[in-house]
Amino acid sequence: MKKKILVTGASRGLGFNITRKYLENGETVFAGARDITSEKLQALKENYPDTLIPITLDVTDTASVNAAAKSIGSYTEHLDVIINNAAIHSPTSFEILERADIDDCMATYDVNSLGPLRVVKACLSLIRNGDGAKIINISSESGSIGACGRDREFDYCMTKAALNMGTKLLANYLNKDKILVLAVHPGWMRTDMGGPNAHLDPYEAACQLVELFEKRNTLDGPIFIDNEGEEYPW
Ligand SMILES: NC(=O)c1ccc[n+]([C@@H]2O[C@H](COP(=O)([O-])OP(=O)(O)OC[C@H]3O[C@@H](n4cnc5c(N)ncnc54)[C@H](OP(=O)(O)O)[C@@H]3O)[C@@H](O)[C@H]2O)c1
Repeated sequence: MKKKILVTGASRGLGFNITRKYLENGETVFAGARDITSEKLQALKENYPDTLIPITLDVTDTASVNAAAKSIGSYTEHLDVIINNAAIHSPTSFEILERADIDDCMATYDVNSLGPLRVVKACLSLIRNGDGAKIINISSESGSIGACGRDREFDYCMTKAALNMGTKLLANYLNKDKILVLAVHPGWMRTDMGGPNAHLDPYEAACQLVELFEKRNTLDGPIFIDNEGEEYPW
């Protein structure tokens, strides 16, 4: 049976490519995007008119997230996988502390840390109705405190560390429902966020990640992992 997947931030980058890969695998994808009329999504929709369902979704806006969940609920009673992928950097993220705008960090926290929680909360009954359901929070090695060697990107690193804590809390809470919750570092990818010098093509990264998500079927095992499934230090 076709799986039902929700991907946030599906307009471009990794989210778009994860969407594409799941569609190629024959699954049904609810592609959450702030602008569902984006050219990329519309072009993909032409190839998958029945299984790609674009859904308007701004993860910072509770009303938008709730409306998205309601809309998904009009198509299906369950979700098998939620991919919380949407994320941002603040405009001064890469500046040293003296030049970083600390107030900008709030917007990053809203998207990167609270956005996934809003989505999971709104979709709780859908994901609880799934069989062997999974919630994948796309995190980053930047969120690892144990492996941190950086001295800037305060907004991004701190919000991904907070996402990791959110992941662990959700994993504890949803364990009784047998829902797997992971925080996954996807690798350094050539997207708008990753830039042109990154190691990985985002489509190839998406293929590797989707295979990894399919293979991981046990609640036991590491929760914060890299793109090869290896445990990453919190
Ligand atoms: N690229 C890397 O090397 C790298 C490394 C480690 C981790 N990651 C993580 O991988 C994930 C994907 O990153 P990427 O490189 O694909 O980033 P990207 O190319 O910058 O794409 C970000 C996506 O997030 C969406 N988004 C931003 N704010 C949103 C909001 N408020 N509501 C809904 N969607 C929103 C964007 O939508 P719009 O088109 O509407 O702006 C876009 O689809 C992120 O979680 C990122 O932190 C990336």
